[in-house]
Amino acid sequence: MIEYNRTAQSVFDDWAQDYHVEGMENGHWPAVRQIFPHIAESNGNYLEVGIGNGYGISHIAQNQYKHGQCYGLDISSEMAALTAKRTADQSNVHIHAGDFLKWQPAQGQLFDTIFSMEVFYYFASIQSGIEKAFSLLKYGGKLLLCVNFYEENAESHSWPGELDTPMELWNRQQYFEGFKQAGLKNITQKIIKKNPDDAGTLLTLGVKSDRKDGQCQVKGTR
Ligand SMILES: C[S@@+](CC[C@H](N)C(=O)[O-])C[C@H]1O[C@@H](n2cnc3c(N)ncnc32)[C@H](O)[C@@H]1O
Repeated sequence: MIEYNRTAQSVFDDWAQDYHVEGMENGHWPAVRQIFPHIAESNGNYLEVGIGNGYGISHIAQNQYKHGQCYGLDISSEMAALTAKRTADQSNVHIHAGDFLKWQPAQGQLFDTIFSMEVFYYFASIQSGIEKAFSLLKYGGKLLLCVNFYEENAESHSWPGELDTPMELWNRQQYFEGFKQAGLKNITQKIIKKNPDDAGTLLTLGVKSDRKDGQCQVKGTR
């Protein structure tokens, strides 16, 4: 068993303060901008897990959720601080620092969309993260989970060693099955390429259906 010496929190607290943070935005935005059209306009609640420097939540708060409320969470307080600064004049953006697996929104709030780019494999368990997201979705709400670290992307396999931090490696089928096991429906997957040579970002998308066993559930209940 390989031993790693750093937590994701300490890695990203450092990255928030050097050149990595800008590189991360520039590296991820070309894929994320192709994924955001999968998010519909809404006056409800958007949650982004692992916001980094906030380029994604800032965009969504000015576009699809300009009439809604956007919540962002990051385990790195330095990343959360960067996003809070970036979105200071966006009154519909609310930033929290904390671990998604332990986080509870105020007053049992639920979300219409939960989005995450390059985050879930840092969790102690990807499956627990998917189940947590499911529990925070409204009926009819969508989870969009994006990763570049996955089994079919061989180039990504060196990342845990390079960052000296643990990452859980799943393949495309495992993400699909993980969504299914959590109870998500209408599951689809796509590889989003930034250029023809790019292995691509794996997007898995699923809906918390408002129907169970053919019965309509009461809206707003879990
Ligand atoms: C590779 S970065 C991606 C940041 C951003 N989503 C982007 O596209 O650039 C991963 C982010 O997830 C955050 N993160 C890792 N584990 C987390 C956890 N358990 N809860 C919340 N955020 C977490 C890290 O602090 C970091 O900001």
